[in-house]
Amino acid sequence: MFNLFPKRTRLKDYSFLGVDLHSHLLPGIDDGAKSMADSLALIRELQQMGFRKLITTPHVMGELYPNKPETILNQYQAVRDALGAEPDVTVSLHTAAEYMLDELFGEKLDNAELLTLPGRRVLVEMSFISAPPNLEEYLFRLQAKGYLPLLAHPERYLFLRDSFHKYHGLKERGCEFQLNILSLAGYYGKHVRENAFHLLREGLIDFLGTDLHHQQHAGFLRAALEDPAIAKAVRKVEFKNSELG
Ligand SMILES: [Fe+2]
Repeated sequence: MFNLFPKRTRLKDYSFLGVDLHSHLLPGIDDGAKSMADSLALIRELQQMGFRKLITTPHVMGELYPNKPETILNQYQAVRDALGAEPDVTVSLHTAAEYMLDELFGEKLDNAELLTLPGRRVLVEMSFISAPPNLEEYLFRLQAKGYLPLLAHPERYLFLRDSFHKYHGLKERGCEFQLNILSLAGYYGKHVRENAFHLLREGLIDFLGTDLHHQQHAGFLRAALEDPAIAKAVRKVEFKNSELG
C-alpha cells in the first residue's frame, strides 16, 4: 500500500547529535551499569544507535553516591582498559560527572576541581521535589569560578512547570539546559513528556542527552527513534551536542 508518511518522518538514529553528554556507564559507582559486562553492553548500544562520542556522567550525590574525582577516574580507566580488548567498539568514551545541588555541593565547589564537560560545563541536577534554597547562589558561585552550569533534565522538575517563567529566568542567568530523550519517549510519564515538548517548542533546550542507566532505557531510546512526534520536534532545533567534540 502507498505510504503517505514514509520513513523519513522518523529518525534514522542519533548520529545527528553525534555526542551524548549524559549517561551512567561506569560500573558499580551509581545506579547505572552494575558490572563491567553491563557497562560494555550499554556502550555498544549507544554506538549502534549512532553516537560516536560518549561523555559519561556518574552521579555525585550526597551520601548516596559520594563519588570523588579519583573514584570516577579510576573506574573510567578500568572501562577504557576493558574496551581495549573490544576492537568492534569504535565510539570514544570520556567522563565528567552529574553533580546534585545538595547541601554538600558547596564544599566540593570550594575544595575540589569539578569534573567538567568541554567548555568547563558542569552538569548539575536538583531534587525532583523542590529547588535547593540556595540555587541562585550555587549558579553564581559556579560562574564565579569560571564554570558554565548545565542543568540536566529540566523537564523533570515538574515544580517549575506551573511557574514556567522560572525556566526563562535560569537561562537568563547563564544556565544551559539538557533534555532527556527518555522524557520525550514518555519514560517518566505523561506530564514530563508534555513538559519536554513544551521546553523544546520554547527554544529553551541546548542539548539532548540519553541519561542511559540500563537496558530498559536503551529500549525506550530505540522506541523514540520510531516516534514521528519526536522526529518533528527535534528536527526544528539546532542542538549544541556537536560542540562537545
Ligand atoms: Fe543522570
